[in-house]
Order: sequence, then C-alpha cells, then structure tokens
Amino acid sequence: MAQTAPAPHRASIVEGGVVYKQNLGEFVKKDSKVFFAATDRNKEATLEQLRPYLADAVQVLKVGSGSCQHIYHFAREFPGVVFQPTEYDTSLFTSIEAYTNDLLSQATTSISTAS
Ligand SMILES: C[S@@+](CC[C@H](N)C(=O)[O-])C[C@H]1O[C@@H](n2cnc3c(N)ncnc32)[C@H](O)[C@@H]1O
Repeated sequence: MAQTAPAPHRASIVEGGVVYKQNLGEFVKKDSKVFFAATDRNKEATLEQLRPYLADAVQVLKVGSGSCQHIYHFAREFPGVVFQPTEYDTSLFTSIEAYTNDLLSQATTSISTAS
C-alpha cells in the first residue's frame, strides 16, 4: 500500500520581535534574510579556520554564499577585506542583498556587488 509523505511541519517563532517562519527545517526571517541554522552553528568554527588567511587577504570570492550569513559574520571581523558573494540559487539573492545592505549601512566593511 502506498504511503503518503508526512506534511512538512510548519511553525513560527518570535525572537527579539522578529518573526521566523519555518521552511523545510530552516527558519526564514520575514525581512528577507534567510537564516540557516547549520550556518549559524558553524560560523564561529569556520571563522577560526579562516582567520589566518583572512588576516592577509585583500579580496575574497565566496563561492556558494547561500544566505550570506557567513560573509556577514566574517566581514564584520575583517572590515578591510572586500568580500564578493556568488550564489547559484537565485531565490537567495534577496537574502544576500539584505545582509550586504546591512553591512554597508554599518559602514565597517567592503562588499563588491559587481555582477
Ligand atoms: C551550504 S550552502 C552555503 C551556506 C553559506 N555559507 C551561508 O552563509 O549561508 C552552499 C551553497 O552553494 C550554492 N552553490 C552550489 N553550486 C554553486 C555554484 N556552482 N556556484 C555558486 N553557488 C553554488 C548552493 O546553492 C548553496 O546555497
């Protein structure tokens, strides 16, 4: 007998006034910044591995920038480095734009937005 896949669990959580909507196990912020839980968990360990390279870097091409959470995290530590995001999935462009706009508004870092 054929089995029906369970309906994806959907929920919302509110944290600091921001509403997150669950989408296939991840939470998506309403302001278009996508939030990947795994990226959030590994961002600090990843930064520690990259720190010696970023210390000497001038420009970094980030292939597969996803939500842009990693660049957001790294760029605030290394404001002198120009980060260039790239992403295959066009549905993530608005998230990348939201994080980079946030960085630019903080005026502490350089982001290359050339296409
Ligand atoms: C694990 S996610 C990266 C998460 C990211 N570090 C962040 O801060 O959210 C890997 C990403 O690589 C992207 N990707 C896969 N192949 C690609 C390609 N050839 N060029 C650019 N991005 C690619 C995927 O769409 C996916 O968003």
